[in-house]
Amino acid sequence: MSNNPIGFFDSGIGGVTLWKEVHSLLPYENKIYLADSINSPYGDKSDKKLEEISFKNSEFLLEKGCKLIIVACNTATTKCIEKLRKRFHIPFIGIEPAIKPAALNTKTGKVGVLATKGTLGSDLFYKTSNKHASSVKIIEQSGRGLVPLIEQGKMDGDEIKNLLKKYLQVMINENVDKLVLGCTHYPLIIKSISEILPETIQIIDCNKAVAIQTKKVLENNRIINLNKIESNNIFYTNSESSILGKIIDNKFNITKI
Ligand code: DGL
Repeated sequence: MSNNPIGFFDSGIGGVTLWKEVHSLLPYENKIYLADSINSPYGDKSDKKLEEISFKNSEFLLEKGCKLIIVACNTATTKCIEKLRKRFHIPFIGIEPAIKPAALNTKTGKVGVLATKGTLGSDLFYKTSNKHASSVKIIEQSGRGLVPLIEQGKMDGDEIKNLLKKYLQVMINENVDKLVLGCTHYPLIIKSISEILPETIQIIDCNKAVAIQTKKVLENNRIINLNKIESNNIFYTNSESSILGKIIDNKFNITKI
């Protein structure tokens, strides 16, 4: 079992930002990544549709023998992870906006969260905000339109910068000192974000924390791969996009399904 791969899925290339952290912490683990670009973006989908997509992606990864699945997407995690855990009998790890560290460390008492409409409207986001950030002001902003541009590889053109200026100005005006990236696609545009944000605003994502959590769960379930041999990393995509190859520096095999 420990030789079996870790599975990942997202609505395209965003979750690769999380895959990279996991790969760097757990280089000997075999991994399978499913870029479900055909259903992108997830952010505006109904709960029912998202559940259907998440079940289908998980079934695909289970058929490939995955021992654990990382839902490398904030939207699918906040909307579906509990249902996935109930339905399938392997461990699931998710990712959600890092509100807790942002709320603990803010000096201005104001935290910005840039995420999809689905994530911001989810019960899990509401619960986490109430639990960890009840004493700070959260400025929520949906990043509508960002994911489709990122999926087309338009990560630093005028189009994305104009959208970002509009979305981030609200937060700058409100005097936030932390910006939480609540979507796994957004680390891919960190350069464009940093050009717009004043240096006083710290950008936070929790990819590293999720990688550490993955290691813990593998250890606790005794399914960590102790063989120190080079791992097998396979990428599947259901679209023709060449962006995925670029993101992984064309170092790994990509199979079109
Ligand atoms: N990368 C995903 C997330 O973290 C999905 C974004 C989308 O497809 O709208 O939310």
